[in-house]
Formats: sequence, C-alpha cells, structure tokens
Amino acid sequence: MNDTKVAEIKNLVKSYGAKDFQTTVLKGIDMCIYKDDFIAVMGPSGSGKTTLLNILSTIDKPTRGMVMLDGKDVSQISNKELAKLRKDKIGFIFQDYNLLDTMTLQDNIALPLALDGVPSKQILERIKNLAAVFDLSEQLRKYPYQLSGGQKQRGAVCRALITNPEIIFADEPTGALDSKAGKDLLHCLRRVNDSGQATILMVTHDPLCASYAKDVYLLSDGAMRCRISRGNDRKEFYNKIIDLQASIGGDFL
Ligand SMILES: Nc1ncnc2c1ncn2[C@@H]1O[C@H](COP(=O)(O)OP(=O)(O)OP(=O)(O)O)[C@@H](O)[C@H]1O
Ligand SMILES: [Mg+2]
Repeated sequence: MNDTKVAEIKNLVKSYGAKDFQTTVLKGIDMCIYKDDFIAVMGPSGSGKTTLLNILSTIDKPTRGMVMLDGKDVSQISNKELAKLRKDKIGFIFQDYNLLDTMTLQDNIALPLALDGVPSKQILERIKNLAAVFDLSEQLRKYPYQLSGGQKQRGAVCRALITNPEIIFADEPTGALDSKAGKDLLHCLRRVNDSGQATILMVTHDPLCASYAKDVYLLSDGAMRCRISRGNDRKEFYNKIIDLQASIGGDFL
C-alpha cells in the first residue's frame, strides 16, 4: 500500500435543518484515503453516501470536523486556492453524466483543459489516448444525444481524467447503466486505478459495482460500520459484500 495521504476526514459531522428540526446525517466520521486506493462506500438509501462524497470533494461543507485534501485543510484555504485544488487535483463522475448537450464528446472531454488555456494540440493528443483506453475513438465527433448511456459515462470518465487528477470522486457511476455497460465502465475504472493513474472513491448501493473496488466501507446510521478488502478474487469479494449487507439487515435499494 502507498502511504501518501490523498484525502482525510476527521470527526466529520453533517446536520441538516433548522435548530429544532435538525437531523444529523453523518455523526463523526474518520476516514483516510491513500494514493492508489479504490474505495467503494456502500450503505442504505439515505445513509449519507452522497453527502459524504460531496463534502470530501468540496462541493458541500461539513457542519463540524475537518477535511484535508492534498495535505491542506480545505476550511483554511482561500477560495482561489480551493478553486485551483478542485481544478487540478479532483475529477468528478456523476450518475447522470453531466455532459453538455451542445458540444461534441471531444469538446466535452476537452473542456476542463480548454478553460485552462492548454494548447489544443496537446489537448487532442491527450483525448486520443484516453479515447483509445475507453473505446471511444469512433465516438468523439458525436453529440451526447447520439451516444449510448455507457459511451456517455465513459466519456464523463475521460473528462474527469483529462486533467490528470489525483483523486476521482464518483457517485453511483453505474446507476443509470445496464449491467454490461456498467461492467465495462468498472473495468475501465479498475484499469485506471491499477495503472496508478488515479485514486478513486466511489459511492454505490450496488454490491457488484462495489466488488470492483479494493476496499468497501459500510456507512449506516451516520457512522462507518466496517471495512472489508478484496484480495485476489472479485467473485469471492462480491459474496463477502452480500453477506455484509445481510448482516446489517439493511435494504440497500
Ligand atoms: N440539502 C438537504 N437538506 C436536508 N436534508 C438533506 C439534504 N441533502 C440530503 N439530505 C438528507 O440527508 C440524508 C442523506 O442523504 P444522501 O443523499 O447523502 O443519502 P444517500 O446515502 O446518498 O442515499 P441514496 O442511496 O438514495 O443516494 C437523507 O435523509 C436526505 O434526505
Ligand atoms: Mg446518493
């Protein structure tokens, strides 16, 4: 295991609502993410998976506790530094792709670098390489409405990777895909992680999706209940995850 910390949360608390009607979704969570980790956070619907991911990825703020990214306490840095951290170090993958309909796939993937003023020749080279890995070379000139769900989501992964982020945050990345497209995407994410290109934190309620990660954390009732690790056999890991779900008796859908 690589012992470089990419992200860390300490005693993270998140509550919603006004004083008298407050619900506390995350009740003091500690977690450390190291370089080359591929973590799946699982938990029942409403357990706070998206909330946790949004706080870790700086989209949302905690009520209490500390979030460290790239060695920096994100509450202590300026907005400018935070924007730079988001741009350079973080990649996002959303359940519903978030591609822009008025742009071709190629332009969608290029966007983060184009906004940053990177020369177009350099961008094209990067896109060509990524498209080959994600089996999208023939799709680059198409608009999102001309692509399948799986192609759109793999395109969204390319867009997340184009800046060479340190960490990728993915919220239910296979949630809108059929099982074949979902597996293709997960194989791609595994390859990206295995090759040391990016650390990945993904949230999912799907045991199959989670079985592609190296470690699974279980979130329930506002706390991290346990962590299990993959070993060599993914199918065995899948069975372990199913047993874990059964043991907490929760309905994950
Ligand atoms: N902006 C908000 N205001 C009030 N409550 C919220 C807000 N966002 C989330 N919640 C509540 O916090 C809890 C956790 O929500 P969250 O979206 O993190 O769950 P989740 O584990 O991602 O669920 P799912 O698997 O259904 O996506 C839910 O009870 C939800 O209603
Ligand atoms: Mg969610």
